[in-house]
Amino acid sequence: MCSNDEKVEQIMKMKAECPDNIAIQCFDKAYYDSLDSDEKKSGLLKCLDSGRENADSGMGCYANQPADYETYEPFFKAALESYHKVNLAEKSHSNNWDLKSAAGLPEDGQLDVTKLGLPALSMRVRTGRNLKKFPLPGAMSKEDRCNMEAAMQPVFAELIKNEAYGGKYVSITPEHANFINTEEYNELVKAHIMFKNMDDDSYLKSAGIASDWPHGRGCYISEDKGFIIWVGEEDHLRIMCMKKGTLINEVFERLKGAIDVVEKLIDGGCAMSDKFGVVTSCPTNIGTGMRASVHIALPGLTADGTDAKAKAVAKPLGLSVRGLGGEHTPIGADGTVDISPSARFCITEAEIVAALYNGVKLLKEEEDKCVKDPTDVAAEVGLENKAKPEATEGRRASKADVTAA
Ligand code: ARG
Repeated sequence: MCSNDEKVEQIMKMKAECPDNIAIQCFDKAYYDSLDSDEKKSGLLKCLDSGRENADSGMGCYANQPADYETYEPFFKAALESYHKVNLAEKSHSNNWDLKSAAGLPEDGQLDVTKLGLPALSMRVRTGRNLKKFPLPGAMSKEDRCNMEAAMQPVFAELIKNEAYGGKYVSITPEHANFINTEEYNELVKAHIMFKNMDDDSYLKSAGIASDWPHGRGCYISEDKGFIIWVGEEDHLRIMCMKKGTLINEVFERLKGAIDVVEKLIDGGCAMSDKFGVVTSCPTNIGTGMRASVHIALPGLTADGTDAKAKAVAKPLGLSVRGLGGEHTPIGADGTVDISPSARFCITEAEIVAALYNGVKLLKEEEDKCVKDPTDVAAEVGLENKAKPEATEGRRASKADVTAA
């Protein structure tokens, strides 16, 4: 445990060493000194614990109370503007799930991937929600975590009764009525249903978000396993819909329907900010909390066994590329990657799925070009001198490397 002064000293020292750590860069000593209580000073520093202890952080901070974004607005505003590349004096966030509101979609509103020359794909849309009544996960006590899980049980009971969802709730909280053992938990992780042990994530650990593992952690799973709610991960709730299919509308609309049901049933409601939209622990997710993705095979763009080329092509399209096992995981052995629009903030939910559809369309075009003439595309994206296929084959992920989504 460091004192506040020690933390400040360390942060100031890191400014020169960590140019890419947004929280460290956005920490303003004069603003910190202007805070009128020790409680507030400690509160701000706690938000930066993860970025201070993990120099390689990109974002480097998490909110600990739903109100932190407003309480420490000068800091978070700077961090949000830097990460999301927006000027909040000119742009503001709003939420809108109505696909008709998004520009650039096919006339009939159908986001049909077969129209892009693609087969049925694994599709997934998720969002995060936090219960207004509780601190965010970084500041929860063990009791808070268990109480939050308990507060969700009546909501899950309603979903289970509802024919459109059904299913069950499973918990890894010791002595919970729906407790599953380690073996069952590992099976669910392997099936990409349950989340991984958060203690293994050093960012979440430093933030206090992984604390008291596995207390207050569990997962609601619909009867058809296509709708899942994680409880007690980085946000109180991670709500997601997945399906192997051809119409992105299906997962998007099912998620919207479910959010409406769940938000209404939560006692006290979910944390929302007038200025920033959906409140999430991590500022990277604020606004919509939404990540919409498809799994797509890019054998051409990943022929060198790495995702470097796919990432270089995807970035200007506003798309992120990751492995099938979730954040920070390697690409699949067959060149299958997970593609999602990077933006979550100052964009609407409808615009995110539109960005996914149109982005995938352009990415597919690049992939097709690449299959025709791999050297041309490599040259276009400035990677012609990078990794030769033979030399990097070993860096591909094996199936066994891929765990929870
Ligand atoms: N805290 C980490 C960083 O700053 C991860 C941020 C984004 N990922 C997330 N799961 N919220 O690099």
